[in-house]
Parts: sequence; C-alpha cells; structure tokens
Amino acid sequence: MSVLEKMSSTEAIALENKYGAHNYHPLPVVLSRGEGVYVWDVEGKKYYDFLSAYSAVNQGHCHPKIVGALIEQAKILTLTSRAFYNDKLGVYEEYITNYFGFDKVLPMNTGAEAVETALKLCRKWAYETKGIPENEAQIIVCEGNFHGRTTTIISFSNDENARKNFGPYTTGFLKIPYNDIEALRKAITSSKNIAGFLVEPIQGEAGVFVPAEDYLVKAKVLCEANNVLFIADEIQTGIARTGSILAVCGNCTCEDKCEKQASYVTPDILILGKAISGGAYPVSAVLANNAIMDVIKPGQHGSTFGGNPIASAVAIAALEVVDNENLIQNARKLGIIFRTELAKYIETSTIATLVRGKGLLNAIVINDSEQSDTAWNICMKLAENGLLAKPTHGNIIRFAPPLVMNEEQLLECISIIIKTLKAFERT
Ligand SMILES: Cc1ncc(COP(=O)(O)O)c(C=O)c1O
Repeated sequence: MSVLEKMSSTEAIALENKYGAHNYHPLPVVLSRGEGVYVWDVEGKKYYDFLSAYSAVNQGHCHPKIVGALIEQAKILTLTSRAFYNDKLGVYEEYITNYFGFDKVLPMNTGAEAVETALKLCRKWAYETKGIPENEAQIIVCEGNFHGRTTTIISFSNDENARKNFGPYTTGFLKIPYNDIEALRKAITSSKNIAGFLVEPIQGEAGVFVPAEDYLVKAKVLCEANNVLFIADEIQTGIARTGSILAVCGNCTCEDKCEKQASYVTPDILILGKAISGGAYPVSAVLANNAIMDVIKPGQHGSTFGGNPIASAVAIAALEVVDNENLIQNARKLGIIFRTELAKYIETSTIATLVRGKGLLNAIVINDSEQSDTAWNICMKLAENGLLAKPTHGNIIRFAPPLVMNEEQLLECISIIIKTLKAFERT
C-alpha cells in the first residue's frame, strides 16, 4: 500500500505489526494530523494530546513558527556534516549557551546520544582534570532512572524489561536510591574515583517522582564539596515543562520570567533533548562550561547530523516560542489547577489514590497493582472520550499536555479525566 493512500486505523496498525519491529506497545489509535494541543486520527476523530510525544511537543503540534523555520532552512541547506562550518550552527550555539548560561554546547540529535555524550565528557574530565586513574571512574546514578536505550545507558537501568538479555553491560556506574541524600553522601565519599552524579530532576518515566524540595540543592553541595560533576538530565523536564525553563533552573537567563527559588541549582553538565526542537526534528544538546567541555578535542566525539543547519534553525525557533508565548508561566499556572482539581476528586475516589507532579508534568496513581491492566484500560477509555494519555509504569498514568493549552481547554480535559476515572470506580 502506498503511504499516499488513505487507510483505516485497522490497516495502519496491521502494516506496523507486520513490517515493524514490535519494540513498542502503542494504544490502538492511528494519528495523521496535529495542531496545537490537538491530534486527529485517520478516521477524523479529534483528541487532546496528554503525552506530547513524551514531552517533546511542549510548544504544541506543528507550531507555525517552528515548522516555518524548518521549511525555510530545508530549502537552503540541510546538512554539511561537521567536516565544514555552516552559517547556522555558530548562531545557534551562541543563542543556546546564552539562553541557559553556559560557555559551550555540544550538539547531538536524540536524548540517548546526549546522555552518552555527557557520560563520555564526564569520564574524560575525570581522567584529564580530576586525575582519576584511567578506566577507574565511577558515575553515580539513581534507581528508577530512565536515560534512554543505548547499551551503556541500559547497563545502569533497573528496569529488567529494558536490560534483560542485552548484556554484557558497561561497568563504571554506582546505583543509589533516588531522593536519598544520605545514600548520595555515602556513595560520593566511598571512593576517590567518583566522577559524576547523573540525575533526573524529576523522574518522568518512573512515574513522575518529584524529589524533596531540597534534594537537588543538597546533592549539588555534595558534588561540589567532592569535586564530582552534577549532571542534570533535563530531556523530559526541561524547556518549561515543569513551570520553569529547567527543573533545576539556577543558571538560566529567565530571571524576569520565573521566580527563582532557593531549591534551584546549576548543573555542571546539562542535557537537553525533545522540546528544544518542539518535536519538529531530532535535536539534543549537552551544555557545560569551558573547564569541562574543553577536554573534548577534534576527532574524539561527534555525529554526522549533530548541529546541522535545520536543527540549529529549528531549536532557535522552538526556544523563542517558549519565551514569546509565556509557556513557563502557563505551565506553572495550569499545573496548579490540574493538581488542585484532581486532588479534590481523589479525596473521595476509589480508583485514583494520588496526583503528583510539577508544572504540566503530572501523574495519577491508580488504585491497583503494577501488574494489573487497569491503567491501560483507563487510557483506552480516555482515548474513547477524546484524550490521549499512556501509563508509565503499570498503575501510573502520566499527564503532560502541550504547554500552549489554555485554561478553558484544561478544564474540559480535567472533566474528561474525572468522568473517565469515575467509570472505573469500585462500589
Ligand atoms: C529523562 C530522559 N532521558 C533520556 C531520554 C531518551 O531520549 P531519546 O528517546 O530521545 O533517546 C528520555 C526519553 O524519554 C528521558 O525521558
């Protein structure tokens, strides 16, 4: 069948099942169009998107400014590789480093690549600057982490599904419980060979776990005291998703737009992905100051597509949209409404036990075991009722709409969610 022919959901699903690897378990909804907070399936049914491509589409589907930048640049120059300079990369590098307050950026494409880049950078810094003996560097990571799917990254995952039968694994990682500052203190002081601490400021895939208000600050203090790099993976939490430009925020340049809180910290290495392109193109980035980034020399790391002209143009447009459309403030304001309204419902609910999150990265815990299919069935019903969301782990449903949503739309969505949950109430 030609991709140009109109097809039904059933036909599209059959094609994917037959010809595509079965590495995902999607909801049986086949989308063919998106605009702002909405997506449409091939039969023309309209949905609110409450996943936003795992927080890549913060600026809304097909944002005209971002798509416009992509089209304009695609007509002029798409890819040069880094064998030559191009006239867009430097402009983007200046823009993004100023935006987040770092000396330098290393451009990549996907989130996992950026995490790999950060790990390599941290190790190299450890050997060449900190003086850790070669091949002995350890990086501390957290239980429940999700940083991507490469062999090294899954080596320190504790999701058996992501790990099993993909060994042998990469060594050099020390796993500690998340949100446990004493565990970090013990690990960081356990050896002179600790190079870095890799952390998600909120664990998104694990089920939107928000750590204690002072966790990141205390972690940063411990890292500084022990000459250990604090590496923030903001691939999912960044770009206004949690109601500030970054969930850690300290070094950003948006003082006038977000209330700086004492809990914000400045990472030594910042990892971004997903929404720095607004979902229009694979763009990721690793930011650090010269003392760290300058350990990387020509030929030691790279990517054919990393820093290409389209990515550069798209990322600038996507960050401008965040500012121009006040997405930070909107995520913060709507997030409070979401959690307040859901918490009111949950007080008397028998099917939902908890709502948690920050900004517009939220989750609801369903009153059933991790192994049950209740959360999945609720998501199926939500889809029927015109709202797309997906369970993260078993009994947890994540709710992360595009940040361009308005209050009226959010209130309609809240009523869809509550109506759907009520249909699953136990008597
Ligand atoms: C925190 C975090 N890190 C890394 C990744 C991996 O990004 P990608 O799927 O673009 O490789 C994800 C993706 O969900 C993520 O949430």
